[in-house]
Amino acid sequence: MIESIKILPNSLYVKFKNKIDDNFLNIWLRDHAKDEENWDYRSNQRKTYTASLSSKLFIKKASVIDNGKYIEILWSDSKNVIKYSAEFLLNNSLKKSTKNQNLILWKKNEISKNIFLKYNNILSKDGFKSFLKNLYTFGFCVITDCKTEIETVENIANKIGYVRQSIFGGLWEFESNEDMADSAYTQEELRPHTDSTYSNDAPGLQLLLCCDYKAIGGDSIMVDGFKIANKIKDEDKKIFDILSNTEVPGKYVGDGVILEAKRPIFKLNSNKELVQVSFNNYDRAEFRLENELMINFYKAIKKFDSLVNESEFQWRYTLKPGELLIFNNWRVLHGRGSFKGKRKMAGCYINMEDFESICKVNGLY
Ligand SMILES: [Fe+2]
Repeated sequence: MIESIKILPNSLYVKFKNKIDDNFLNIWLRDHAKDEENWDYRSNQRKTYTASLSSKLFIKKASVIDNGKYIEILWSDSKNVIKYSAEFLLNNSLKKSTKNQNLILWKKNEISKNIFLKYNNILSKDGFKSFLKNLYTFGFCVITDCKTEIETVENIANKIGYVRQSIFGGLWEFESNEDMADSAYTQEELRPHTDSTYSNDAPGLQLLLCCDYKAIGGDSIMVDGFKIANKIKDEDKKIFDILSNTEVPGKYVGDGVILEAKRPIFKLNSNKELVQVSFNNYDRAEFRLENELMINFYKAIKKFDSLVNESEFQWRYTLKPGELLIFNNWRVLHGRGSFKGKRKMAGCYINMEDFESICKVNGLY
């Protein structure tokens, strides 16, 4: 809701009822005009020829209407008034944080039974929405009572977006297999990591369905990377800065491909908000910094790695046949305890943009 506005030489000052205020440039507001002349409502695309707008355009008249729900502006270059909603303006305020809202950052004992959901219950519209909300809020869920076949993975993926193709195929199944190049196939403990640090666009979600389990051990490990990042930021800003500024390369060599990418362990956006946590010590490629920086980098990953291996941050659970673990690979690190015996899994990846899309469609942000 808008409390008041004031026309300034090149901008409009807007004061919102929640005490936030901001100064929106005339050219920005004009560029975001959404009437029939400037916006195609069928395709949701801009019709305005932005480059032709005059830098001298000005506001002839502006008023707050509908108890602060909207403002109306009459521009110097148009005949009709243009309406802007308070919600639109607030969403675009530079003073409002839009990232990571409604996330619950957690330690092990803050995870409740709510993250377990029955397969049949997530098929309904409401059930699916509440599953998605849990997945968005905590970064992972376990779907129980699934059929132990690969089609289950596909069905869930198709409700969210679609199965991503990667070097491992689309849908995959695996048992422990020493012939495969990737560390995921071994029976040794897999320390918490994120997948595909060697990809510029790491998978957003990973799905892992337990199809068969005749083993001892092999518990799945989930760690909230955003919680770890916040803790490090609070306790040691220097280490946080190293982890958010140092680009760490990842590399995959095998099966006839060479993939490489690099990004900081804590990737921040232009507002310094955390966007993605990436850490995979198995896949880290060789790189060097100046010796002093290198020493600091090793100190930083020691701090990070020791925190993600502290039991208070590790939620551990042994999946039973028919249980599917789904997690946000840009936020939650995953690992697996060592095991002896047979363990057969099926799974797939989903792109982050498709996960974000379904969250937006369901009003989660
Ligand atoms: Fe992995």
